[in-house]
Parts: sequence; structure tokens; C-alpha cells
Amino acid sequence: MEKILRFPKDFLWGSSTSAYQVEGGINNCDWSKFKDAGAACDHYNRYEEDFDLLKKLNQNSFRLSIEWSRVEPKEGEFDEKEIEHYKKVLLALKERGIVPFVTLYHWTVPLWFKEKGGWLNSISPCYFERYVQKVMENLGGLANFWITINEPFIYSSHSYFKGEWPPHEKSFLKTKKVIKKLTEAHKRTYRVIHQFNKEAKVSIAKSNMFFDATDNKLINRFLARIANYFWNEYFLNSIRKELDFIGLNYYFHVKIRFKRGKPGKWFNQEKEGELTDMGWEIYPEGIYHTLKGLKKYNLPIYITENGVADARDRFRRGFIRDHLCWLHKAIDEGVDVRGYFHWSLIDNFEWDKGFEKRFGLVEIDYNALERKPRPSAYYYAQICKDNSLICG
Ligand code: FCB
Repeated sequence: MEKILRFPKDFLWGSSTSAYQVEGGINNCDWSKFKDAGAACDHYNRYEEDFDLLKKLNQNSFRLSIEWSRVEPKEGEFDEKEIEHYKKVLLALKERGIVPFVTLYHWTVPLWFKEKGGWLNSISPCYFERYVQKVMENLGGLANFWITINEPFIYSSHSYFKGEWPPHEKSFLKTKKVIKKLTEAHKRTYRVIHQFNKEAKVSIAKSNMFFDATDNKLINRFLARIANYFWNEYFLNSIRKELDFIGLNYYFHVKIRFKRGKPGKWFNQEKEGELTDMGWEIYPEGIYHTLKGLKKYNLPIYITENGVADARDRFRRGFIRDHLCWLHKAIDEGVDVRGYFHWSLIDNFEWDKGFEKRFGLVEIDYNALERKPRPSAYYYAQICKDNSLICG
């Protein structure tokens, strides 16, 4: 039976982006030397148009990131023009009554920082702190929600463990060291952000998966617990005292079905149903289990990313509906979820996959750089307007 599910008063409804993926014209960071995003969506110049679109789509909140390599192009030298740019961006949101969530580090680092060894440099957290200090001095009063680091585990595993992303290292020990440095970077900047903005709420965006042992076999339940502890909880536990909320990025589940062989095999999943353009299985129930798993932290939770690569907009509407229905169930059962940011507002540069994967509520024509909301964008807009949706 269909049911109308209402969300809590003041729930934030928005979408998420990151600088390198949408802005264009970033050529002084590690990624620009690996895979140049060129003009991307030209959001750097068209942010007002994009914020008008946000408004039109009834969203009251927006997640963006500040590009470190723009703000501090050379070590210790800050570019006032770029700081001014981000000031204008945040003011443009304010004028439209849109609540900003600002990420300070979404995976791209300035070339000078990379040359110093990046996050492996033993004083890397101090470099990051100096940049954040500058940002806060100038922009600190323009946003209350700050995310220091996007997905520390996804970053360190792709960049330092698998070696697929800059700086292409492949070492377990280096991965461990980077995680330690990111932890320190968060702790230091948590303090800086609070110094400059007494009302600030600070967190990271944590990519958690649902480790699914629903076949209930003891061995799978055991492995799922271990995976859950290391992947979902370890980093959060290590910054527990420096968290004002949890930013959760949820995309999929991982089925754990133990097979004899190398550890890699334990997590091999046979995928079911239709897959997204990323080859990911859609598993909305996972957002519920993931949220329930975070309840013990007793902190407000914002979904800082959730979305689907779907160029033809075949799944997006159902994806949004089903994830929100499960999310609502978690709220009903006492999980303090206060906002949802869809990834992403516009199609954008999907890292090593380039521009082919389309996560946008709004389609981008990369030649004319025109924006065209997909049908699912209007479906989501209705939910944002009503603060409720129909499930069942
Ligand atoms: C997340 C990233 C984000 C985007 C989505 C699809 O892991 O944080 O930048 O690429 O995946």
C-alpha cells in the first residue's frame, strides 16, 4: 500500500559537487597532470546559472568544494583573486537562501604539495592546516557546515594501495601512513574551523558500504563484521572527538559470500538485477543498514552523497525514491538524519572514468555547455518542495 512519508522539519534537500569535477580551468593540481578535466562544466564561470537551477529545482542546500590549488598555487602564497571568487560563490548561495556544505579537500592537491611528497610528507597536515586557516580567515563566516576531507579511505585505497590514481603508489605501508596523516589533518583543522566560526559544524564525508551477510552464514557474518569495522568505522572512531555530525556517502553494498582462495575472493559479488553505467548494483536497502550502523555514534547524520551513473535516466527516479524510503525507515527507527545531498547536480568529470559516466540530475551538453534537467530532477524537485514522498 502506498504511504506518504514526511521528513523532519528543516530537513536539508540538496545536491553535491566537487571543484575539480565541475569547475573547469584547474591546471595546477595532481589530477590535472594525470587526467585533465579541461573546461569540465565551466561551473567556475556559470555558478550563478547553476544556483538559479538549484532554486528552480527546490533544493535548499548545496555541497561544493574549494580547490586548494587555486587558493594556494605556490607554497605559502595565496591567490586573493581566487579567495574572492569563492567568497562570491558562497554569497551567491546565501542570496538564494541555499545552505552551503563546504568541502576543503576533495582529492586534488596542489602540485607543490605533491612534489613535497603529498600526504606522505610528515608535516603534510601542517600544510593543510595553513591552507584551511587562510580559507577560514576569509570565508569562515559564510558557511556553517564544513567537511575537511572527502572519503579518506576511497582516496587512500585508490591512490596509495591500488595505485590507480595520483600519486600512483602501491604500498600497504604508505596507505597506512596516509590514513594517519589524514586523521591528523582532520583533527588540526577541526580546531581551526571552530576558532574562526563558533557555530561551525565539522565532519568528513565518509564513504560507507553495507557489508551484506544476509545469507546468515556464520563465516560471512564474521567477515562482514571485520570489514565493517575497518572500512566503515575505523576512521570515524579515530576522529570521534572531532566530529560534530557524520557526512555519509552511500552508493552500494558488498555481498560477502566466502569462497576458499585468496582474500580478494571473499568479497566477490555476483551482481543481481540491472547495473548502473558504473557497473554497480543498485541496493537501496543498504542505506538503511548503513545508517543503523552509525546510530551508535549519537550524532546528526547528513547524506553527503548518493547517486547513480545513468546517462539515459532509466533508474534515477526509482533510485531516489527507494533510497529515500529506506532512509525514512531509519529516521523512523531513531536515526537522526537531517539532510540528503544527491550526487550530483550536474553531469561531471568522473575521475579516471572521464566524462562518459553521467551522475547528474541535470544533463550537460559538453559542447555547448548547456544544462538540461532530466525528468528525475523534476521528480526530486517535487520531493524537496513537499518535504515528503510516496513510498510503497
Ligand atoms: C564518490 C566521490 C565523488 C564522485 C562519486 C561518484 O566516491 O566522492 O567525487 O566521484 O563517488
